[in-house]
Amino acid sequence: MCGIIGFAGHSEAAPILLDGLERMEYRGYDSAGIAVRSETKGLQVKKSKGRLQVLSDLTHGGADLEGNLGIGHTRWATHGEPSDVNAHPHVSSNGQIALVHNGIIENYLEIKEHLMKLGVTFKSDTDSEVVAQLLEYHYNECHNMLEAVGRVLRRIEGSYALGIICADYPNALIAARKDAPLLLGYGKGENFIASDVTAILKHTREVSYMDDGEIAVITPDSIDVFDDELVPVTKEHHQVNWDVTAAEKGGYPHFMFKEIMEQPEAIRKTVSPRIKGERVVLDDISMTQEYVKNISRIFIIACGSSYHVGMVSKYNWEKMLRRPVEVVLASEFRYCDPLVDDHTLVIVISQSGETLDTMAAMREAQRRGGRALAIVNVVGSSIARDADDVLYTWAGPEIAVATTKAYSTQLALMDLVGLYLGDLLGTVSDSEYKAILAGIQELPEKMQKVLEKTADIQYFASRYFNHNSIFFIGRNVDYAMGMEGSLKLKEISYIHSEAYASGELKHGTISLIEQGTLVVALGTYAPLFDKAMSNVVEVKARGAEVLALTTDEFREKMEKTADSTISVPSIHPILQPSLGVVPLQLFAYYVALQRGCDIDKPRNLAKSVTVE
Ligand code: M6R
Repeated sequence: MCGIIGFAGHSEAAPILLDGLERMEYRGYDSAGIAVRSETKGLQVKKSKGRLQVLSDLTHGGADLEGNLGIGHTRWATHGEPSDVNAHPHVSSNGQIALVHNGIIENYLEIKEHLMKLGVTFKSDTDSEVVAQLLEYHYNECHNMLEAVGRVLRRIEGSYALGIICADYPNALIAARKDAPLLLGYGKGENFIASDVTAILKHTREVSYMDDGEIAVITPDSIDVFDDELVPVTKEHHQVNWDVTAAEKGGYPHFMFKEIMEQPEAIRKTVSPRIKGERVVLDDISMTQEYVKNISRIFIIACGSSYHVGMVSKYNWEKMLRRPVEVVLASEFRYCDPLVDDHTLVIVISQSGETLDTMAAMREAQRRGGRALAIVNVVGSSIARDADDVLYTWAGPEIAVATTKAYSTQLALMDLVGLYLGDLLGTVSDSEYKAILAGIQELPEKMQKVLEKTADIQYFASRYFNHNSIFFIGRNVDYAMGMEGSLKLKEISYIHSEAYASGELKHGTISLIEQGTLVVALGTYAPLFDKAMSNVVEVKARGAEVLALTTDEFREKMEKTADSTISVPSIHPILQPSLGVVPLQLFAYYVALQRGCDIDKPRNLAKSVTVE
């Protein structure tokens, strides 16, 4: 989604802002802009629709803008079409205040009408310009920038991360946050704001995370933070240990491919520190055994691929915990008057930790008495900070819009947590505990074996890439895995695709199967392999072309019926989707490659969805 960077220092701001924006490109955007202030030239603003390269060319890599203080923004249109004029920064009527904004100002129309009656003319269709104009109005009243920002924040409703510079306020930029991520970066003789840590990692690893209602004043030598009453606040500093090169392609053609290949190592980092003496040890959570024993209901709440992790986990956790587990899309959960009480455990899964629906759903569950355990990748993100407990996946930065290593690490961590809870509840036998734990430890190595077969999958992609519609079918965890395979394919290759529970075929879907329709049949879940085979026979009889995914153990049987077969090593059935999903990710990747798609930045999609 939108990205913000701000800089106060002694170097030229514009190239630093452009570089920071480039590092946030992966989030998705449709226009970009920067504003820089200098003593001699005052406020200079450049913005344009389209790729960052356009803005860079327009400013000769930033050389045209002079000054050591500035803000930058990549915009994802919500209010007003993507255009030069709707791009940020927005500038107030007298040209003295420039502002970038992430989020949505819900009462912008009412404020806009009020300001228009006072003679203010608006240039854009955005809700964000309203904040710039309102700020000018209040600044003219009180002639104190900080006070004016405070007055504006008391009038606007909705969500915001704001970066503001003012021609009259020479060495400082001002930041404010409510319900949209914003962090402060502490450098040497230079300081930063950013909506995403990757934007400033090159300059500093020392950060603090702004909380809702806070305002910060950033100069080259200081960062002062205030609460909504302008009372100073002391912030905790954190060190970000992400490797800068982890957010770079490092010789790989695409971030998605790099992240697929990183999965064995990412899983190792997720699980190894949590296995001690052949036991799962979750030092990072504070849930007591007594609390766990009294859990009557478990919800898993998430969106997109994180929801698909929840789907696999529902099957696995119900087996391990013998407790009802309900997986609900966050966007549905928050408005469904959910049945949550003090004995409800709510598992919230999110790579970014900033998905608005997921965050709102978690807060709704907490408001009703539920306890939230978040599975998050981005350290210090909003969901991580607001959850009652958080377990980080430690997958490192994930840049491609289509998630791969975040999905795999979430899934491995959910298996580990399920095993831990099952042990506390006494619902997993000793032998089963050992078998699952051994399987989790074997995962990276077996996944590496799957990754050695990329050439086979590339071949199948070249064979099937021109299909218009592809169906995924499977039962139990294979069905849940099919949902992820289908999403991966459609989001990056734009091929229509659906995933169905195989048993449902006869209840309607099978009418879609005709001569040559491609069906990806998933038969990796050993307990239901025979049923999976019957479904292959069923669709073949209607003319389908079948690309099957199974385990090495069942390969021979599958090959007798399917047109093409991919196999992965066998592992404990609970863990089989962790291996099975990898060929599906690779299939989506190679199909998209054949079709010439923009793999890392698929159309209309953003990496993290921070609006409703
Ligand atoms: O950051 P989150 O895990 O909360 O994001 C949820 C979804 O937006 C995300 O998984 C999305 O579906 C991916 N693009 C799928 O590859």
